[in-house]
Amino acid sequence: MTRAKNRFKLFRKLIVYKLKSRHRKGFGIHSPAIFSLVNKGFREDCDISVKRGAVAYKQALKHVTKSITRSTFGAGSLLSTNKKPTTPALINRAIGISMKHGELLYKLSTFYGREGILELGTGLGSATYYLASGSPTSRVITVEGHRDYAETAKTILEQIGITNIDIRIETFANEIKRIKKENGRLGLFFIDGDHSYTPTLQYFKQCAEIGTEEAVIIIDDIHWSDDMDRAWKAIKESSTCRVSVDLFRFGIIFTNKKLQKQHYIVRY
Ligand SMILES: C[S@@+](CC[C@H](N)C(=O)[O-])C[C@H]1O[C@@H](n2cnc3c(N)ncnc32)[C@H](O)[C@@H]1O
Repeated sequence: MTRAKNRFKLFRKLIVYKLKSRHRKGFGIHSPAIFSLVNKGFREDCDISVKRGAVAYKQALKHVTKSITRSTFGAGSLLSTNKKPTTPALINRAIGISMKHGELLYKLSTFYGREGILELGTGLGSATYYLASGSPTSRVITVEGHRDYAETAKTILEQIGITNIDIRIETFANEIKRIKKENGRLGLFFIDGDHSYTPTLQYFKQCAEIGTEEAVIIIDDIHWSDDMDRAWKAIKESSTCRVSVDLFRFGIIFTNKKLQKQHYIVRY
């Protein structure tokens, strides 16, 4: 399928989401905790120091002028086919998180990151920055298969004073296996890589297995392709999912068995 067709398809899905989404202020959401997240957490502005840190991160990345190869891990991009080596800042422009969604990750980290965080897909560390800033006393394990990305992310994040990250250069599958062996239990997950049907379902299931009883799993790009739409549907229908929140770009799954099964499409 051509890139133009993919863009058009994504745009059509966005219109449907805008028409269907409700609960902007959380009204109609049964769980008090999730109501408070949507009503307060989503709507409050981020601390100025977090915004300043994000600027410092981008500035530091711009100073790395050596080109690196692009990662061949995962499903690749539907919107770009550029494979040439280039600077980390330019790669980050294609794969990194936007400020709006980064700040959302920061807020989710402040709400749910206390028991430790796992990010699948460090890239150049833009989302890692927000996750780590939201829970400065928790450990953020972040997994990246491409060595140059992981090493650049580590250098830049350390340069701007982020100390609570543990970057692991490994495949997602191997790293999850290792955490499971170590009996690690984590409270918040961000799945941002390998966006295709079977791997997404597999990572979701494995994250839930190493999650605490109240674990929250965020999945990026849930409507990015037909494959991801199918994966999101299967995840919502799984017994692991108690409450799902569809924000178009992110899907958030609450696994706490005490919650009543509900699905929300929330305008963000
Ligand atoms: C979309 S990027 C991550 C962007 C990053 N979270 C951010 O917001 O800046 C996805 C990353 O996952 C890595 N990746 C994809 N599949 C992987 C796998 N199976 N094992 C290890 N890394 C993988 C890719 O190399 C790529 O850097």
